[in-house]
Amino acid sequence: MPSSDPIGLFDSGIGGLTVLHEIIAKLPRENTVYLGDTARSPYGTKSVETVLRYSFENAEFLLQKRVKLVVVACNTSTAVALRPLQTELSVPVIGVIEPGARGALKKTRNKRIGVIGTEATIQSGAYTEALKRLDRSVEVYSRACPLFVPLVEEGWLDNEVVDRTVESYLAGFKRSGIDTLILGCTHYPLLKKAIRRFMGRAVRLVDSAEETAEEVSRLLTEKSLERERGKGAASFFVTDVPDRFIKVGRRFMGERVDSAVRIER
Ligand code: DGL
Repeated sequence: MPSSDPIGLFDSGIGGLTVLHEIIAKLPRENTVYLGDTARSPYGTKSVETVLRYSFENAEFLLQKRVKLVVVACNTSTAVALRPLQTELSVPVIGVIEPGARGALKKTRNKRIGVIGTEATIQSGAYTEALKRLDRSVEVYSRACPLFVPLVEEGWLDNEVVDRTVESYLAGFKRSGIDTLILGCTHYPLLKKAIRRFMGRAVRLVDSAEETAEEVSRLLTEKSLERERGKGAASFFVTDVPDRFIKVGRRFMGERVDSAVRIER
């Protein structure tokens, strides 16, 4: 597999751009192919069977683009489909949950960790499982925050409505005495400011996107798959009309999202 082959990423829509952003920052020589399944987003409220089927279709598309590695840049897809994808695909597959769990364990002092994500991610228990697998003594408190995704998509990142929503979802974490909070959804890093203001500086926030980029870098080195020279190019594919993806995508990673190709499903 030539090391100039791209890294493939998929997400239910635009949120995975937070992961792509970190990968490009860490590995600027790599070419990337990003698929946002915008026609069928959100995944966070859908059933396991549906998310599984969509995830496989997305991965198939990336394999046709001859990617050397697939990054499941969506917490919901990772929670539901990572293991089956790792078993079936001919290339390595990385999700965002294990890196997020590792990042949290590096940061926590009192081993009380909070996790927030979509309903599907929290219901799957995937973060709790990953954290406990790495350290059985850890206490995990989780909560689905379904309104965070539409707030971010609307561009409401730091206003009074965001503050009230953050307060009503996260008040319980203050009572649990967590010292670390995993932002277990691709959109949540954009709400960091409001979340930090409410939780206070003593609670460390874990951004799965940063930790995933670390993991991708480690895996490429380990398998000698790094691209050694040149500047990487990013290409974007979507399953619905690209306009909204480009508009909202710029919020996630600036002018880099300049065009996207629509594919048929
Ligand atoms: N990308 C999804 C995730 O990280 C959030 C948006 C959705 O529900 O599809 O869970």
